[in-house]
Amino acid sequence: MRILVFTGAGVSAESGLRTFRAADGLWEEHRIEEVATPEAFQRDPALVLRFYNERRAQVIAAQPNAAHTAIAEMEQRLHVDVVTQNIDDLHERAGSTHVLHLHGEIKMARSTADQQVVVPINGPSLDLGDKCPLGSQLRPHIVWFGEAVPMMDRAMELAMRCERLIVVGTSLNVYPAAGLLHYVPNNVPIHLIDPGDVPMLRSGIDHRKQKASEGVPLLASELLKLA
Ligand code: APR
Repeated sequence: MRILVFTGAGVSAESGLRTFRAADGLWEEHRIEEVATPEAFQRDPALVLRFYNERRAQVIAAQPNAAHTAIAEMEQRLHVDVVTQNIDDLHERAGSTHVLHLHGEIKMARSTADQQVVVPINGPSLDLGDKCPLGSQLRPHIVWFGEAVPMMDRAMELAMRCERLIVVGTSLNVYPAAGLLHYVPNNVPIHLIDPGDVPMLRSGIDHRKQKASEGVPLLASELLKLA
């Protein structure tokens, strides 16, 4: 069985990483347009780099939780692809081997001269003056608001080919990512694990209002029994 797991910030919430759309509408005390847009980086690159340095330090200190682990363990018996909107590497650190990051990766940097040039960041900080091999300033390898989502095509292919979809911890607010559900064939069962009210983008979704660390291991054990 080919399983596609589509995750958002909620899968990492119990690892101590905050979700985006909390009640105050702020992301770690900042408005999104202050830190997560190309215009913000042009206006105040030091602020944006510092903001992502703080996020990176949090990711380095965080540990995968039971949901990441259960997703990774399903690979022992099933074909599992993970498409995540998260920029953390907790799926990989839990052991998942097929992980596609739709919105970039906090531990990587990319050239401001050529977006194909992507390099790892060693340690927590990326600073003004850190240059790519071409000699231009490096920026976080993050898809900011208003930017294209180059991995979307590959994610759509995975959605079209999957035989079961598990959605975990995403408000399904941000497009094109949320549109992934529309590419899943109609006869494919969809499970959603999220304690919140999420727009039902299709009828017949098995919505389990549980935290990821409870709901995902439970569902994984059910699917492993079917396999
Ligand atoms: N377990 C599962 N889900 C949870 C948990 C938990 N412990 N805690 C919170 N959630 C759910 C919330 O109910 C909500 O539906 O996680 C979801 C988080 O939603 P958002 O904060 O909107 O995060 P996400 O959907 O990943 O955001 C998408 O928006 O800002 C951009 O690029 C950023 O990738 C991000 C995108």
